[in-house]
Amino acid sequence: MKSALPRFLCLLLVLGISHSATGEETAKKPVSFQDEIKPVLIEKCVHCHNRKTLPDLFSFESAKRAFVTLKSGQDVIVPGKPEKSLLIIALKSPHGHEKAMPMVGPRPTEEEIELLSRWIQEGAEWPKGPGGRIRPLFRATE
Ligand code: HEC
Repeated sequence: MKSALPRFLCLLLVLGISHSATGEETAKKPVSFQDEIKPVLIEKCVHCHNRKTLPDLFSFESAKRAFVTLKSGQDVIVPGKPEKSLLIIALKSPHGHEKAMPMVGPRPTEEEIELLSRWIQEGAEWPKGPGGRIRPLFRATE
């Protein structure tokens, strides 16, 4: 009887460890536009992809201007299909490739590309209204 309690605690510990190990792989939280996507677009894209710097292209300033079809017929973001989204195609193109983005400046990390890809896979939810607006910290000029 005396040794029952430590043994019980040991069992709890083992169960706890195996539970958290499998839980991590299966239950990934959905990607948050506000906390995970917006910061990447602000830091690495929107200073070029805004209406002033690139008026003839798409802009990451709002959902309305980001979810567009380009003249080539390709969509910048295809909800549920990262492999068809130009945004992901451009980021996965090797540096120096004609589609590689950004042309100059820091490229998103593998982790950030993975996040963007998962976000599109999960439906690319981008709030309409103020929550979905992105202000460039500065605007690149040509
Ligand atoms: C230094 C400015 C600059 C930055 C930073 C930049 N872009 Fe671009 N981007 C451009 C320009 C200019 C074009 C148009 C290129 C062309 O038409 O040949 C473009 C085109 C694109 C295209 C369309 C590619 C195609 O094949 O038509 C996508 C998608 C894109 N950018 C995504 C991004 C993303 C995502 C980021 C942030 C990680 C980013 N860009 C950062 C300047 C920039």
